[in-house]
Amino acid sequence: MARTTSPGGRKQTITLTDNSTGKTVEFPLLKGRLGPKVIDIRNLYGATGYFTYDPGYTSTGSTESAITFIDGDKGVLLHRGYSIEELAEKSDYMEVCYLLLNGELPNRAQKREFEHTITMHTMVHEQLNYFFRGFRRDAHPMAIMCGVVGALSAFYHDSTDIGDPHQRMIASYRLIAKMPTIAAMAYKFSIGQPFMYPRNDLKYAENFLYMMFGVPCEEFQVNPVLAKAMDRIFILHADHEQNASTSTVRLAGSTGANPFACIAAGIASLWGPAHGGANEAVLQMLGEIGHTKNIKSYLARVKDRNDPTMLMGFGHRVYKNYDPRAKVLQKACHAVLKELKIKNDPLLDLAMELEHIAVNDDYFIERKLYPNVDFYSGIILKAMGFPTSMFTVLFAVARTVGWVAQWSELIEDPVQKIGRPRQLYIGKGRRKFVPLSKRK
Ligand code: SDX
Repeated sequence: MARTTSPGGRKQTITLTDNSTGKTVEFPLLKGRLGPKVIDIRNLYGATGYFTYDPGYTSTGSTESAITFIDGDKGVLLHRGYSIEELAEKSDYMEVCYLLLNGELPNRAQKREFEHTITMHTMVHEQLNYFFRGFRRDAHPMAIMCGVVGALSAFYHDSTDIGDPHQRMIASYRLIAKMPTIAAMAYKFSIGQPFMYPRNDLKYAENFLYMMFGVPCEEFQVNPVLAKAMDRIFILHADHEQNASTSTVRLAGSTGANPFACIAAGIASLWGPAHGGANEAVLQMLGEIGHTKNIKSYLARVKDRNDPTMLMGFGHRVYKNYDPRAKVLQKACHAVLKELKIKNDPLLDLAMELEHIAVNDDYFIERKLYPNVDFYSGIILKAMGFPTSMFTVLFAVARTVGWVAQWSELIEDPVQKIGRPRQLYIGKGRRKFVPLSKRK
């Protein structure tokens, strides 16, 4: 197939020529506000009888979206036009939630009202407590999250009608508000401590730390520096365009499934070590490396094609430069360790040395592999007292607003259809059924 682009000045198109038939077909070129143009191939099959083949969707845009923009070559991340660096420094998680959901930052009154609404939804149905008892004590908290969040649709029937904008809004608020409560319950269940009810006098991140680390028998003072760090970690994980878990939420949503089921699907997708599960895997990797003197031999394994070892927390489908979130997290790491009076954290030293060696190594330079959001987050979370198994849960708590915002955008999109990719079939051709008695 040859291709030509029509001259500027009129609607741009791209022409595909099928060399086997000589037939030419024009496709519109669409331009978003930022980023590269996209070829609108919606009528490709109708016009040519061909599908596209794009495993891993490396060149496929699945939707229009007005929420998040990433320039992977420059390492830029914008939410509704605001840079992640500015949001992390000057804003707070509740504001970012409002921004992602509504498109604009809230004014004072809007912020107060939004925070109040979220706070009023933090408790979970009392019956949900009993649901936890069905899990083994040693269950991975992500397994509990998949089950319990999916089960919310069995508890909140009055917010599962996706055709009703009010119910959609209530479901979104419930999910954002209840995720920290459920996450803390998953942790408390695993260590055999009583669940802590949320406290309405605390801010979102403070309340989460209280439910995680408080116990009913004594006062618990939330450290403001750690609450600020938690809030910042939530901001940095809030949304990230059409990543695997968000695309999973959208695909589930495209069938008309209720929002709780869709978010449970997103949690399951996030769990994998190539995605949100990488923050847990980074800590395991640092533990395995153990000491800076072992970095070189570990990297030799990573570079060996016959060894499946990867450098966890490195590389990204979109970023071919530093992930801007990793830079913010690295700085936040130092602040947290200082507050906790941890002078020399061997894990942080090891991570920084590993990063330094990797980014100066030809293998990583040639492939444009840099630290991603998961590289430093685990080190802060560990210092704050979170067990490794909770790291991906925290990612899920923070990402819920992104999933919900993207799900709402999908439902409100007039061109939305059920997501249904096609395939390149490589199995057997049609053949005759052989009765059991005649099979060899
Ligand atoms: C997240 O998409 C998002 O936006 C996700 C996320 C979000 O906020 O939602 O940003 C969160 O998921 C971050 C990514 C966390 N995952 C990890 O840290 C796991 C380690 N990373 C890799 O598995 C990998 O880099 C991915 C999955 C993140 C991206 O994979 P791609 O885009 O499919 O890249 P690739 O596998 O085709 O790699 C290209 C080359 C290959 O080498 P060659 O075959 O060309 O020789 O780079 C190599 C890969 O082998 N490579 C790595 C590597 N990552 C890629 N080699 C060693 N270590 C790595 N980490």
